[in-house]
Amino acid sequence: MDAYTQTIADQPWRHGRHQEDIQCVHGQPINIGISEADRQTIVDGLSRLLADSYTLYLQTHNFHWNVTGPMFNTLHTMFMTQYTEQWGALDLIAERIRALGFPAPGTYAEYARLSSVKEVTGVPKAMEMVRILVDAQEATARTARSLFPVVEAANDQPTADLITQRLDVHEKTAWMLRSLLEE
Ligand SMILES: [Fe+2]
Repeated sequence: MDAYTQTIADQPWRHGRHQEDIQCVHGQPINIGISEADRQTIVDGLSRLLADSYTLYLQTHNFHWNVTGPMFNTLHTMFMTQYTEQWGALDLIAERIRALGFPAPGTYAEYARLSSVKEVTGVPKAMEMVRILVDAQEATARTARSLFPVVEAANDQPTADLITQRLDVHEKTAWMLRSLLEE
């Protein structure tokens, strides 16, 4: 059993539940100048970033639906801008994982296991929603930033470019949300 097949055997979530499926992702080998071990480590990080990104997307859309109070119009519109941008990012992250040769996680069970963004229960007050989203934006930024050492060491420019763009968005959005909380 080679290292990649062993990885799937050890971590079946990477490839559904069925060992017999291994063959179908194991056709033409990938030879892009990044070792399999490095691609796997990068994909582990990108999978956590995808899970954070999906959870952040859903949380922002949830708050768009449920926000109330005197700031309704501002927040309803602001949250829509944010979740629309965030939705677009999911595809870029997932397809980078695929280009690196691994399956992208795409179930709520996987996202719940991989995400560092805390889910909310109930419907928070408007300014509490803003506070929660600052935390979620910052958590997603920390996950993206944690990938840099391995991405740089592996000379993986497309992933470095992707996470740089995501950091720019999350840090800017966190600043805008944080500004709403000032007196
Ligand atoms: Fe809407």
